[in-house]
Formats: sequence, structure tokens, C-alpha cells
Amino acid sequence: MKILVTGGAGFIGSHFVKRVLRGGHEVAVLDKLTYSGNRANLADDVEFHHGDIAEPADVARAAAGCDAIVNFAAETHVDRSILSAEDFGRAEFRGTQVLLEHLRRSGIRLVQVSTDEVYGDLEAGGSSKETDALNPSSPYSAAKSSGDLLVHAYARTFDVNASVTRGSNTYGPNQYPEKFIPLFATNALDGQPLPLYGDGKQIRDWLFVEDHCAGIEVVLHAGAPGGIYNVGGGDEHENIDVAERIIELAGADRSLLRSVPDRPGHDRRYSLETSKLRGLGWAPQTPFEDGLRETVDWYRDNRAWWEPIKSGAYREYYEQQYGSRLADSTAV
Ligand code: TYD
Repeated sequence: MKILVTGGAGFIGSHFVKRVLRGGHEVAVLDKLTYSGNRANLADDVEFHHGDIAEPADVARAAAGCDAIVNFAAETHVDRSILSAEDFGRAEFRGTQVLLEHLRRSGIRLVQVSTDEVYGDLEAGGSSKETDALNPSSPYSAAKSSGDLLVHAYARTFDVNASVTRGSNTYGPNQYPEKFIPLFATNALDGQPLPLYGDGKQIRDWLFVEDHCAGIEVVLHAGAPGGIYNVGGGDEHENIDVAERIIELAGADRSLLRSVPDRPGHDRRYSLETSKLRGLGWAPQTPFEDGLRETVDWYRDNRAWWEPIKSGAYREYYEQQYGSRLADSTAV
């Protein structure tokens, strides 16, 4: 099978590329190389197309000869969507629509990689099922929801062969250090403050990147057209506990942990019900403790990967996002 991996130079996409190449598939990558895409995440000999999923000609060029598309291309960071939501509509809505139009013409398969955040938060307990209503809280999750809804509508109206996966919070090597775990790991290794939002009692359902990729691959091969599949780690932890564990693993001082003003609209808890995907033979293999240790070790051993990232435009983002927050911070 030849698979077009869109967003294949990003965090989860690049792990997926390596996985399917190991499995003997052929791969092409289409990536816009925005701030979080990194050509160095891929081997030099991977077939690489520099372009945009929202441009039909770029998609047609990259998808030539492919049997399926797995779409990781997206703007993914909630905090950036709060600062400015503009790019999210283009990537998530327009980009997904262009891929679906390509499916109408070509008849190939699509797996749309989505997120548990489309369900909104679950403070009252329980876990989100694939049939639950969408209730997004942030511009990011609203934009991702629009992609899911387009897939649903195109599968029903045009009978395209597309499925959706909804993954829980994913972590591991090569994640851009704006997300919680790589930000806290790299700051702890550098002796910089760790900005914990609000009371730190928010809960996320953590999923190691290799387990997430394994789930997406199962859906690629065995998922039903029009089907939606939750991919959740089942490893729920409060942010404050994750932060304290990162501090221990990095050998940093607990005084680095600072409570900062909360994210507006912050979801308290996510949790996924995963029996549908488990019914296709998938189960997560990596306990959070093991995956977190491997991740912090990777950031300790790969400063050459992340130190250049944390300069230039990243510094501007960091100042905008955390400058006044850290000035208002308190001890935890
Ligand atoms: P994040 O990695 O941004 O993922 P998401 O918001 O998509 O779940 O954040 C994970 C959790 O960590 C979330 O509850 C927000 C919190 N968080 C902080 O407390 N401080 C930070 O600097 C960041 C980036 C996140």
C-alpha cells in the first residue's frame, strides 16, 4: 500500500511515517512546514512534497499513485488558537474539505486524525463515546470538529471511504515544546519556571505516541467507511501530578513549579471510551510512567533537536503567552 501522510513532518505524523515504513508500506509526505513541522523529523530518503492540504494542486501532486491518505496536518495548539484563530480554519476546515474533494475524484481512502477535545470536558465523570455530541470549548477544538463534520457529511452524501480517529493527549519524543509535557520537560532541564495553569487539577488521558500511531494504523486497515474511533490511553492524571513527576525525572527543583493565571475556557477533564477500537484488536502498550521516563530521557539526550527551536519566533510566542502570566505567578 502507498500512503500519503499529510502533516508527516510534525510530531505524531513523523512517528506514523516511521511506523508504516517499518511495516513495509510505501509512503509519501505532504507538509507545509509551518513552525511546528520539521523536515529533520524524517529520513532524507522519504518522498517529500512541500505544500498545503488546503491547495488542491498540492494534494493532487502528492497523492498521485497513493491508495490512502492519513491526515495529521493541522494547527494543534489550544493556546495559540486563543491568541489568534485565523490559521485554524484554513488547515482544519478548508484543508479537510480539499482532501475529501480529492477522495470524490480518486476513490482512495482517508483517515482523518482528530482529537478527544471535540467532545468538550467531562467534569461530571464518565468517558466520551463516539456517538456523543460535539461540544468544543476552544477555537482549536471547534476547528477540529468542523473537519469531523465534513468527513461525516461527505461519507453520507458522496459515499467517500473516510474514517475519523479521536486521540487523547499524546506525548513522546519529537513533540514541539509548546505542549504541556515537552514544555515542562525542557524548562525543567534548563532550570526555567514551569507555568501550571490555575489549580493544576485538570485531568488529561495520556497516550504514548507509538500507541496512538498503532491505533490509527488499525483504523486505516480495518475501520469502517464513515466510522469514528476513539484512541485513548486510559491513563488519566492531574496536571500537577504530571508536573511533579517531570521535575523528579529531570532532577529539577520543585520551586520551579509556578501557578499562573488559567487558560480561558480551560477544559477540566477528558476521558475516552475505547471499546470500539479495542474490538478491532488494538490496546495501548505503554504505561504512562514508562512513556514519561522515555520522553524526559529523550529531551535530556536530544538538546540539539529542541534548543534551536526555542529561539527566534518561539521566544516571541513564549513572551506573549507566559510573560505577564509568570510575572503574576505564585508558588504551588
Ligand atoms: P496541552 O499540552 O496544551 O494540551 P490540551 O490543552 O490540548 O489538552 O495542555 C495539557 C494540559 O496542561 C492542559 O490542561 C493545560 C495544561 N498546561 C499548563 O498547565 N501549562 C502550560 O504551559 C501548558 C502548555 C498546558
